[in-house]
Amino acid sequence: MAVVGASATCFFLLSSWLCLCSNARLSPPPESNATAADELALLSFKSLLNSFNGSLDSWNTSSHFCSWPGIACGHRHPDRVVALRVPEFNLSGRISPSLGNLSFLRELDLRDNLLIGEIPPELGRLGRLELLNLSTNALVSGIPPAIAECANLVILVLSKNQLHGEIPASLGAMENLYILDLQENHLSGEIPLSLANLPSIEYLFLYSNMLSGEIPPELGNLTGLRHLDLMDNMLSGAIPSSLGKLSNLIWLSLGYNSLIGEIPASIWNISNLWGINIQWNNLTGCHSGKRVQQAR
Ligand SMILES: *[C@@H]1O[C@H](CO)[C@@H](O)[C@H](O)[C@H]1NC(C)=O
Ligand SMILES: *[C@@H]1O[C@H](CO)[C@@H](O)[C@H](O)[C@H]1NC(C)=O
Ligand SMILES: *[C@@H]1O[C@H](CO)[C@@H](O)[C@H](O)[C@H]1NC(C)=O
Ligand SMILES: *[C@@H]1O[C@H](CO)[C@@H](O)[C@H](O)[C@H]1NC(C)=O
Ligand SMILES: *[C@@H]1O[C@H](CO)[C@@H](O)[C@H](O)[C@H]1NC(C)=O
Ligand SMILES: *[C@@H]1O[C@H](CO)[C@@H](O)[C@H](O)[C@H]1NC(C)=O
Ligand SMILES: *[C@@H]1O[C@H](CO)[C@@H](O)[C@H](O)[C@H]1NC(C)=O
Ligand SMILES: *[C@@H]1O[C@H](CO)[C@@H](O)[C@H](O)[C@H]1NC(C)=O
Ligand SMILES: *[C@@H]1O[C@H](CO)[C@@H](O)[C@H](O)[C@H]1NC(C)=O
Repeated sequence: MAVVGASATCFFLLSSWLCLCSNARLSPPPESNATAADELALLSFKSLLNSFNGSLDSWNTSSHFCSWPGIACGHRHPDRVVALRVPEFNLSGRISPSLGNLSFLRELDLRDNLLIGEIPPELGRLGRLELLNLSTNALVSGIPPAIAECANLVILVLSKNQLHGEIPASLGAMENLYILDLQENHLSGEIPLSLANLPSIEYLFLYSNMLSGEIPPELGNLTGLRHLDLMDNMLSGAIPSSLGKLSNLIWLSLGYNSLIGEIPASIWNISNLWGINIQWNNLTGCHSGKRVQQAR
Protein backbone atom coordinates (compact mmCIF):
# COMPACT_ATOMS: atom_id res chain seq x y z
CA MET A 1 0.00 0.00 0.00
CA ALA A 2 2.81 2.34 0.89
CA VAL A 3 4.37 1.79 -2.53
CA VAL A 4 1.17 2.55 -4.38
CA GLY A 5 0.68 5.68 -2.28
CA ALA A 6 4.20 6.87 -3.06
CA SER A 7 3.84 6.44 -6.79
CA ALA A 8 0.51 8.19 -6.72
CA THR A 9 2.21 11.13 -5.00
CA CYS A 10 4.95 11.03 -7.59
CA PHE A 11 2.47 11.11 -10.39
CA PHE A 12 0.67 13.99 -8.80
CA LEU A 13 3.88 16.01 -8.37
CA LEU A 14 5.01 15.24 -11.91
CA SER A 15 1.74 16.34 -13.46
CA SER A 16 1.60 19.55 -11.47
CA TRP A 17 5.19 20.29 -12.52
CA LEU A 18 4.25 19.76 -16.18
CA CYS A 19 1.26 21.95 -15.57
CA LEU A 20 3.38 24.79 -14.13
CA CYS A 21 5.77 24.41 -17.01
CA SER A 22 3.17 24.86 -19.73
CA ASN A 23 1.57 27.69 -17.79
CA ALA A 24 4.94 29.43 -17.82
CA ARG A 25 5.19 28.93 -21.55
CA LEU A 26 1.76 30.35 -22.14
CA SER A 27 2.18 33.44 -19.98
CA PRO A 28 5.80 34.49 -19.31
CA PRO A 29 6.35 36.53 -16.13
CA PRO A 30 6.41 40.31 -16.55
CA GLU A 31 9.53 42.25 -17.58
CA SER A 32 11.44 41.65 -14.40
CA ASN A 33 14.23 39.39 -15.65
CA ALA A 34 17.97 40.07 -15.90
CA THR A 35 17.90 40.14 -19.70
CA ALA A 36 15.33 42.90 -19.65
CA ALA A 37 17.46 44.77 -17.09
CA ASP A 38 20.47 44.68 -19.46
CA GLU A 39 18.40 46.05 -22.34
CA LEU A 40 16.99 48.77 -20.11
CA ALA A 41 20.47 49.75 -18.92
CA LEU A 42 21.75 50.02 -22.51
CA LEU A 43 18.79 52.11 -23.65
CA SER A 44 19.26 54.35 -20.63
CA PHE A 45 22.97 54.72 -21.55
CA LYS A 46 21.98 55.65 -25.11
CA SER A 47 19.34 58.14 -23.92
CA LEU A 48 21.99 60.44 -22.42
CA LEU A 49 24.14 60.46 -25.57
CA ASN A 50 24.27 62.13 -28.95
CA SER A 51 26.22 60.79 -31.89
CA PHE A 52 27.18 62.83 -34.93
CA ASN A 53 26.57 60.01 -37.37
CA GLY A 54 23.85 58.07 -35.64
CA SER A 55 26.25 55.33 -34.59
CA LEU A 56 23.73 54.16 -31.97
CA ASP A 57 20.57 54.45 -34.12
CA SER A 58 20.36 50.69 -34.49
CA TRP A 59 20.27 50.37 -30.71
CA ASN A 60 16.50 49.96 -30.71
CA THR A 61 14.05 47.23 -29.78
CA SER A 62 13.51 46.09 -33.38
CA SER A 63 16.49 43.78 -32.87
CA HIS A 64 17.91 41.88 -29.90
CA PHE A 65 20.44 43.98 -28.00
CA CYS A 66 23.10 41.29 -28.36
CA SER A 67 23.24 42.20 -32.07
CA TRP A 68 23.63 45.94 -31.53
CA PRO A 69 26.94 47.48 -32.68
CA GLY A 70 29.53 47.46 -29.89
CA ILE A 71 27.70 44.85 -27.78
CA ALA A 72 28.95 41.34 -27.08
CA CYS A 73 26.95 38.82 -25.07
CA GLY A 74 28.27 35.79 -23.24
CA HIS A 75 28.80 32.20 -24.34
CA ARG A 76 27.52 30.65 -21.15
CA HIS A 77 24.99 33.44 -20.65
CA PRO A 78 24.03 34.21 -24.26
CA ASP A 79 21.58 36.96 -23.33
CA ARG A 80 23.77 38.91 -20.90
CA VAL A 81 26.06 41.74 -21.99
CA VAL A 82 29.71 40.91 -21.35
CA ALA A 83 31.34 43.68 -23.41
CA LEU A 84 30.37 47.22 -24.35
CA ARG A 85 32.90 48.55 -26.85
CA VAL A 86 32.11 51.86 -28.49
CA PRO A 87 35.53 53.51 -29.04
CA GLU A 88 35.59 56.39 -31.53
CA PHE A 89 31.82 56.33 -31.90
CA ASN A 90 31.64 60.16 -31.80
CA LEU A 91 29.50 59.96 -28.68
CA SER A 92 28.92 63.09 -26.66
CA GLY A 93 27.08 63.48 -23.38
CA ARG A 94 27.22 61.90 -19.96
CA ILE A 95 27.89 58.33 -18.92
CA SER A 96 24.70 56.87 -17.47
CA PRO A 97 24.90 55.34 -13.99
CA SER A 98 22.69 52.59 -15.43
CA LEU A 99 25.83 50.87 -16.77
CA GLY A 100 26.31 49.74 -13.17
CA ASN A 101 23.36 47.39 -13.79
CA LEU A 102 25.19 45.37 -16.48
CA SER A 103 26.23 42.85 -13.89
CA PHE A 104 27.93 40.42 -16.32
CA LEU A 105 30.07 43.11 -17.95
CA ARG A 106 33.77 42.24 -18.30
CA GLU A 107 34.85 44.96 -20.71
CA LEU A 108 33.79 48.60 -20.91
CA ASP A 109 35.56 50.58 -23.63
CA LEU A 110 34.29 54.13 -24.19
CA ARG A 111 37.64 55.60 -25.25
CA ASP A 112 38.07 58.38 -27.80
CA ASN A 113 34.65 59.99 -27.59
CA LEU A 114 33.46 63.35 -26.28
CA LEU A 115 32.03 62.22 -22.97
CA ILE A 116 31.60 64.90 -20.32
CA GLY A 117 30.63 65.00 -16.67
CA GLU A 118 31.51 62.46 -14.06
CA ILE A 119 32.58 58.84 -13.91
CA PRO A 120 29.51 57.26 -12.26
CA PRO A 121 30.43 55.64 -8.94
CA GLU A 122 27.85 52.98 -9.86
CA LEU A 123 30.52 51.42 -12.13
CA GLY A 124 31.93 50.06 -8.85
CA ARG A 125 29.06 47.56 -8.88
CA LEU A 126 30.59 45.78 -11.89
CA GLY A 127 32.22 42.98 -9.94
CA ARG A 128 33.15 41.02 -13.08
CA LEU A 129 34.73 43.96 -14.92
CA GLU A 130 38.27 43.27 -16.16
CA LEU A 131 38.89 46.21 -18.50
CA LEU A 132 37.77 49.81 -18.17
CA ASN A 133 39.04 52.29 -20.75
CA LEU A 134 37.60 55.82 -20.60
CA SER A 135 40.68 57.44 -22.14
CA THR A 136 40.53 60.51 -24.35
CA ASN A 137 37.22 62.04 -23.39
CA ALA A 138 36.34 65.22 -21.48
CA LEU A 139 35.43 63.75 -18.10
CA VAL A 140 35.86 66.27 -15.29
CA SER A 141 35.01 64.53 -12.04
CA GLY A 142 37.21 63.04 -9.41
CA ILE A 143 38.03 59.35 -9.63
CA PRO A 144 35.26 57.64 -7.63
CA PRO A 145 36.82 55.59 -4.80
CA ALA A 146 34.11 52.98 -5.48
CA ILE A 147 35.92 51.98 -8.71
CA ALA A 148 38.16 49.90 -6.46
CA GLU A 149 35.16 47.65 -5.75
CA CYS A 150 35.59 46.22 -9.26
CA ALA A 151 37.75 43.53 -7.70
CA ASN A 152 38.51 41.77 -10.98
CA LEU A 153 39.75 44.83 -12.81
CA VAL A 154 43.02 44.16 -14.63
CA ILE A 155 43.25 47.26 -16.81
CA LEU A 156 42.13 50.70 -15.63
CA VAL A 157 42.75 53.50 -18.14
CA LEU A 158 41.33 56.94 -17.34
CA SER A 159 44.04 58.90 -19.18
CA LYS A 160 43.57 62.07 -21.25
CA ASN A 161 40.56 63.56 -19.50
CA GLN A 162 40.30 66.49 -17.09
CA LEU A 163 39.92 64.43 -13.94
CA HIS A 164 40.75 66.31 -10.78
CA GLY A 165 41.14 65.67 -7.07
CA GLU A 166 43.36 63.09 -5.47
CA ILE A 167 44.07 59.55 -6.56
CA PRO A 168 41.78 57.52 -4.24
CA ALA A 169 43.74 55.45 -1.74
CA SER A 170 41.20 52.68 -2.31
CA LEU A 171 42.84 51.84 -5.65
CA GLY A 172 45.63 50.18 -3.66
CA ALA A 173 43.21 47.36 -2.80
CA MET A 174 42.88 46.18 -6.40
CA GLU A 175 44.62 42.82 -6.32
CA ASN A 176 44.42 42.07 -10.04
CA LEU A 177 45.32 45.50 -11.39
CA TYR A 178 48.06 45.14 -14.01
CA ILE A 179 47.85 48.50 -15.81
CA LEU A 180 46.93 51.73 -14.01
CA ASP A 181 46.99 54.61 -16.47
CA LEU A 182 45.89 58.01 -15.15
CA GLN A 183 48.22 60.10 -17.33
CA GLU A 184 47.30 63.53 -18.69
CA ASN A 185 44.65 64.66 -16.21
CA HIS A 186 44.60 67.32 -13.48
CA LEU A 187 45.08 64.98 -10.53
CA SER A 188 46.66 66.59 -7.47
CA GLY A 189 47.79 65.66 -3.98
CA GLU A 190 50.37 63.03 -3.16
CA ILE A 191 50.87 59.62 -4.69
CA PRO A 192 48.93 57.39 -2.25
CA LEU A 193 51.15 55.00 -0.28
CA SER A 194 48.50 52.36 -0.85
CA LEU A 195 49.58 52.04 -4.51
CA ALA A 196 52.67 50.25 -3.17
CA ASN A 197 50.32 47.39 -2.20
CA LEU A 198 49.22 46.55 -5.74
CA PRO A 199 50.52 42.98 -6.10
CA SER A 200 49.91 42.59 -9.86
CA ILE A 201 50.87 46.02 -11.18
CA GLU A 202 53.36 46.16 -14.05
CA TYR A 203 52.49 49.48 -15.72
CA LEU A 204 51.98 52.61 -13.64
CA PHE A 205 51.43 55.77 -15.66
CA LEU A 206 50.78 58.95 -13.68
CA TYR A 207 52.54 61.45 -15.92
CA SER A 208 51.29 64.94 -16.79
CA ASN A 209 49.22 65.61 -13.70
CA MET A 210 49.74 67.97 -10.76
CA LEU A 211 50.93 65.44 -8.22
CA SER A 212 53.08 66.84 -5.44
CA GLY A 213 55.02 65.65 -2.42
CA GLU A 214 57.79 63.08 -2.48
CA ILE A 215 57.99 59.83 -4.41
CA PRO A 216 56.98 57.20 -1.80
CA PRO A 217 60.00 54.92 -1.12
CA GLU A 218 57.41 52.14 -0.74
CA LEU A 219 57.03 52.07 -4.53
CA GLY A 220 60.28 50.11 -4.45
CA ASN A 221 58.18 47.19 -3.16
CA LEU A 222 56.36 46.86 -6.50
CA THR A 223 58.91 44.38 -7.79
CA GLY A 224 56.80 43.35 -10.80
CA LEU A 225 56.81 46.91 -12.14
CA ARG A 226 58.05 47.29 -15.73
CA HIS A 227 57.12 50.88 -16.55
CA LEU A 228 57.01 53.67 -13.99
CA ASP A 229 56.17 57.06 -15.42
CA LEU A 230 55.82 60.00 -13.03
CA MET A 231 57.04 62.63 -15.49
CA ASP A 232 55.65 66.17 -15.65
CA ASN A 233 54.22 66.56 -12.17
CA MET A 234 55.31 68.68 -9.19
CA LEU A 235 57.11 65.96 -7.27
CA SER A 236 59.84 67.10 -4.91
CA GLY A 237 62.49 65.59 -2.67
CA ALA A 238 65.06 62.99 -3.59
CA ILE A 239 64.69 59.92 -5.76
CA PRO A 240 64.26 57.05 -3.25
CA SER A 241 67.12 54.56 -3.48
CA SER A 242 64.53 51.82 -2.91
CA LEU A 243 63.55 52.19 -6.58
CA GLY A 244 66.72 50.19 -7.23
CA LYS A 245 64.78 47.15 -5.98
CA LEU A 246 62.56 47.31 -9.07
CA SER A 247 64.57 44.63 -10.86
CA ASN A 248 62.02 44.19 -13.68
CA LEU A 249 61.91 47.88 -14.51
CA ILE A 250 62.47 48.64 -18.18
CA TRP A 251 61.51 52.29 -18.26
CA LEU A 252 61.74 54.91 -15.52
CA SER A 253 60.51 58.39 -16.27
CA LEU A 254 60.88 61.13 -13.66
CA GLY A 255 61.58 64.17 -15.82
CA TYR A 256 59.92 67.58 -15.46
CA ASN A 257 59.48 67.51 -11.70
CA SER A 258 61.29 69.30 -8.86
CA LEU A 259 63.45 66.45 -7.69
CA ILE A 260 66.73 67.22 -5.95
CA GLY A 261 69.85 65.39 -4.87
CA GLU A 262 71.75 62.63 -6.59
CA ILE A 263 70.47 59.81 -8.70
CA PRO A 264 70.81 56.85 -6.29
CA ALA A 265 73.51 54.37 -7.32
CA SER A 266 71.00 51.54 -6.86
CA ILE A 267 69.14 52.68 -9.99
CA TRP A 268 72.13 51.73 -12.19
CA ASN A 269 71.90 48.26 -10.69
CA ILE A 270 68.62 47.50 -12.46
CA SER A 271 69.85 45.17 -15.16
CA ASN A 272 66.68 45.33 -17.28
CA LEU A 273 66.53 49.12 -17.34
CA TRP A 274 66.43 50.23 -20.93
CA GLY A 275 65.68 53.90 -20.52
CA ILE A 276 65.54 56.56 -17.86
CA ASN A 277 64.25 60.08 -18.23
CA ILE A 278 65.30 62.49 -15.52
CA GLN A 279 65.61 65.74 -17.44
CA TRP A 280 64.40 69.03 -16.08
CA ASN A 281 64.87 68.42 -12.38
CA ASN A 282 67.49 69.74 -9.99
CA LEU A 283 69.45 66.53 -9.78
CA THR A 284 73.20 66.55 -9.32
CA GLY A 285 75.70 64.01 -10.52
CA CYS A 286 75.06 61.51 -13.22
CA HIS A 287 76.44 58.00 -13.17
CA SER A 288 76.79 56.87 -16.72
CA GLY A 289 77.28 53.36 -17.99
CA LYS A 290 73.63 52.95 -18.96
CA ARG A 291 71.73 54.40 -21.82
CA VAL A 292 70.24 57.68 -20.60
CA GLN A 293 67.25 58.89 -22.53
CA GLN A 294 67.18 62.66 -22.32
CA ALA A 295 64.51 63.36 -24.90
CA ARG A 296 60.80 62.78 -24.37
C1 LIG B 1 13.17 38.61 -20.44
O1 LIG B 1 13.30 39.85 -21.10
C2 LIG B 1 13.56 39.75 -22.48
C3 LIG B 1 13.83 41.13 -23.02
O2 LIG B 1 12.81 42.01 -22.72
C4 LIG B 1 12.39 39.07 -23.16
O3 LIG B 1 12.65 38.95 -24.53
C5 LIG B 1 12.17 37.70 -22.55
O4 LIG B 1 11.04 37.11 -23.10
C6 LIG B 1 12.03 37.79 -21.04
N1 LIG B 1 12.04 36.45 -20.48
C7 LIG B 1 11.15 36.02 -19.60
C8 LIG B 1 11.31 34.63 -19.14
O5 LIG B 1 10.30 36.75 -19.17
C1 LIG C 1 19.23 49.68 -12.24
O1 LIG C 1 18.87 48.72 -11.26
C2 LIG C 1 18.14 49.25 -10.17
C3 LIG C 1 17.87 48.14 -9.20
O2 LIG C 1 18.99 47.35 -9.03
C4 LIG C 1 16.85 49.85 -10.67
O3 LIG C 1 16.20 50.46 -9.59
C5 LIG C 1 17.13 50.87 -11.72
O4 LIG C 1 15.91 51.34 -12.26
C6 LIG C 1 17.96 50.30 -12.81
N1 LIG C 1 18.26 51.36 -13.76
C7 LIG C 1 18.34 51.17 -15.06
C8 LIG C 1 18.47 52.39 -15.88
O5 LIG C 1 18.31 50.08 -15.57
C1 LIG D 1 30.19 56.83 -38.59
O1 LIG D 1 30.43 57.36 -39.88
C2 LIG D 1 31.69 57.07 -40.41
C3 LIG D 1 31.82 57.76 -41.75
O2 LIG D 1 31.19 59.00 -41.71
C4 LIG D 1 31.86 55.58 -40.56
O3 LIG D 1 33.16 55.31 -41.02
C5 LIG D 1 31.67 54.92 -39.21
O4 LIG D 1 31.74 53.54 -39.33
C6 LIG D 1 30.38 55.33 -38.58
N1 LIG D 1 30.40 54.81 -37.25
C7 LIG D 1 29.50 53.96 -36.82
C8 LIG D 1 29.73 53.42 -35.47
O5 LIG D 1 28.52 53.64 -37.45
C1 LIG E 1 16.34 50.50 -35.53
O1 LIG E 1 17.39 49.63 -35.90
C2 LIG E 1 17.35 49.18 -37.23
C3 LIG E 1 18.51 48.22 -37.42
O2 LIG E 1 18.38 47.15 -36.55
C4 LIG E 1 17.45 50.35 -38.20
O3 LIG E 1 17.35 49.89 -39.53
C5 LIG E 1 16.36 51.34 -37.89
O4 LIG E 1 16.53 52.50 -38.69
C6 LIG E 1 16.39 51.74 -36.43
N1 LIG E 1 15.26 52.61 -36.11
C7 LIG E 1 15.41 53.88 -35.73
C8 LIG E 1 14.15 54.61 -35.38
O5 LIG E 1 16.50 54.43 -35.66
C1 LIG F 1 33.33 61.27 -36.17
O1 LIG F 1 33.07 62.59 -36.61
C2 LIG F 1 34.05 63.13 -37.47
C3 LIG F 1 33.67 64.53 -37.82
O2 LIG F 1 33.51 65.30 -36.66
C4 LIG F 1 34.15 62.27 -38.72
O3 LIG F 1 35.22 62.74 -39.50
C5 LIG F 1 34.41 60.83 -38.33
O4 LIG F 1 34.35 60.01 -39.48
C6 LIG F 1 33.39 60.32 -37.35
N1 LIG F 1 33.78 58.99 -36.94
C7 LIG F 1 32.94 58.04 -36.57
C8 LIG F 1 33.49 56.71 -36.25
O5 LIG F 1 31.77 58.26 -36.48
C1 LIG G 1 42.81 52.84 -23.98
O1 LIG G 1 42.50 53.89 -24.87
C2 LIG G 1 43.62 54.66 -25.29
C3 LIG G 1 43.12 55.82 -26.11
O2 LIG G 1 42.65 55.42 -27.36
C4 LIG G 1 44.56 53.77 -26.05
O3 LIG G 1 45.70 54.50 -26.45
C5 LIG G 1 44.98 52.62 -25.16
O4 LIG G 1 45.78 51.72 -25.90
C6 LIG G 1 43.80 51.89 -24.61
N1 LIG G 1 44.31 50.93 -23.63
C7 LIG G 1 43.80 49.73 -23.48
C8 LIG G 1 44.52 48.86 -22.53
O5 LIG G 1 42.81 49.35 -24.08
C1 LIG H 1 58.04 48.64 1.56
O1 LIG H 1 59.11 49.56 1.43
C2 LIG H 1 59.44 50.29 2.60
C3 LIG H 1 60.47 51.34 2.23
O2 LIG H 1 61.21 51.05 1.11
C4 LIG H 1 59.85 49.34 3.67
O3 LIG H 1 60.19 50.03 4.84
C5 LIG H 1 58.72 48.37 3.95
O4 LIG H 1 59.10 47.43 4.90
C6 LIG H 1 58.26 47.68 2.70
N1 LIG H 1 57.03 46.95 2.98
C7 LIG H 1 56.81 45.73 2.54
C8 LIG H 1 55.50 45.13 2.92
O5 LIG H 1 57.61 45.11 1.89
C1 LIG I 1 66.89 74.34 -8.74
O1 LIG I 1 68.11 74.91 -8.30
C2 LIG I 1 68.22 76.28 -8.60
C3 LIG I 1 69.62 76.74 -8.22
O2 LIG I 1 70.04 76.12 -7.06
C4 LIG I 1 67.17 77.05 -7.84
O3 LIG I 1 67.21 78.39 -8.14
C5 LIG I 1 65.81 76.49 -8.26
O4 LIG I 1 64.79 77.10 -7.49
C6 LIG I 1 65.76 75.02 -8.05
N1 LIG I 1 64.52 74.52 -8.61
C7 LIG I 1 63.79 73.60 -8.03
C8 LIG I 1 62.58 73.17 -8.80
O5 LIG I 1 64.06 73.12 -6.96
C1 LIG J 1 73.72 46.16 -6.65
O1 LIG J 1 73.37 44.77 -6.66
C2 LIG J 1 74.24 43.95 -5.94
C3 LIG J 1 73.82 42.51 -6.17
O2 LIG J 1 72.43 42.34 -6.00
C4 LIG J 1 74.22 44.34 -4.49
O3 LIG J 1 75.13 43.55 -3.77
C5 LIG J 1 74.63 45.81 -4.37
O4 LIG J 1 74.53 46.22 -3.02
C6 LIG J 1 73.76 46.67 -5.23
N1 LIG J 1 74.22 48.05 -5.22
C7 LIG J 1 73.45 49.09 -4.96
C8 LIG J 1 74.07 50.41 -5.01
O5 LIG J 1 72.27 48.95 -4.67
